[in-house]
Amino acid sequence: MDNGWQASADAWITLMGVSGDFSRQHVLDHPMLNRVRLRPSPRILDVGCGEGRFCRMLAPFAGNVTGLDPTDALLRHAEDLSDQRFVKGTAEALPFEDASFDIVVSYLTLIDIPDTKRAIAEMTRVLAPGGHLLIANLNSWITASQSKGGGWTRDQDGAANMCIDRYFEEHHHWGEWNGMRIKNWHRPQAFYMQALLNAGLQLTHFDEPMATGGERADSYNRAPYLYLMEWQKPAG
Ligand SMILES: C[S@@+](CC[C@H](N)C(=O)[O-])C[C@H]1O[C@@H](n2cnc3c(N)ncnc32)[C@H](O)[C@@H]1O
Repeated sequence: MDNGWQASADAWITLMGVSGDFSRQHVLDHPMLNRVRLRPSPRILDVGCGEGRFCRMLAPFAGNVTGLDPTDALLRHAEDLSDQRFVKGTAEALPFEDASFDIVVSYLTLIDIPDTKRAIAEMTRVLAPGGHLLIANLNSWITASQSKGGGWTRDQDGAANMCIDRYFEEHHHWGEWNGMRIKNWHRPQAFYMQALLNAGLQLTHFDEPMATGGERADSYNRAPYLYLMEWQKPAG
């Protein structure tokens, strides 16, 4: 089923550029790389790697980095910019052997993946015992605001409010921004936590990083846009 990514690929590549968008450059890249630095990682898999920007950032911290994505146009761009391994596929059916990676990364992809429970089971399967699953995700409060106009609205007194709806109901929404039209999924926070717990993973880190720079930092830091978590597959 179409999710908008193939048609939106050129606009996405332009938006990401070299440094990524605001959320990546000013909020997530730094804490994500900090977690990777803590873990000696010969083999890293980036699930939903897009145009490969974060794979390139991971290069100094891994023996080898593999990027996986279902979108041809994004994979082609990734391959043009690096000699890392890029594989076409979906998170729900990872074309890799059991226990073949030390770190699996899901960087803002859970909201794009239709069958997240299956994807989390697959990401766990390909992790080596003792390995880590590193996730950056959009906060469920924010994804629950998307069908209400995507975030801030003004009340009759002119005050800005974040309006959420249908929080406990899994549903999708077609988001349009910067020339893209993408299908994104909302699920309550418990949906993700329970899927990760049911996969047998153990939470080793959780953070809600704030923007540390950029012109929009003050308004951005008023709401919980993003969180980061690291889960470990038990060693034995
Ligand atoms: C918001 S982008 C994130 C790209 C990259 N991780 C980053 O942070 O820049 C979401 C990515 O998920 C990919 N995607 C969509 N459906 C997927 C699926 N079922 N399995 C894996 N990746 C998927 C899209 O092709 C897209 O590259």
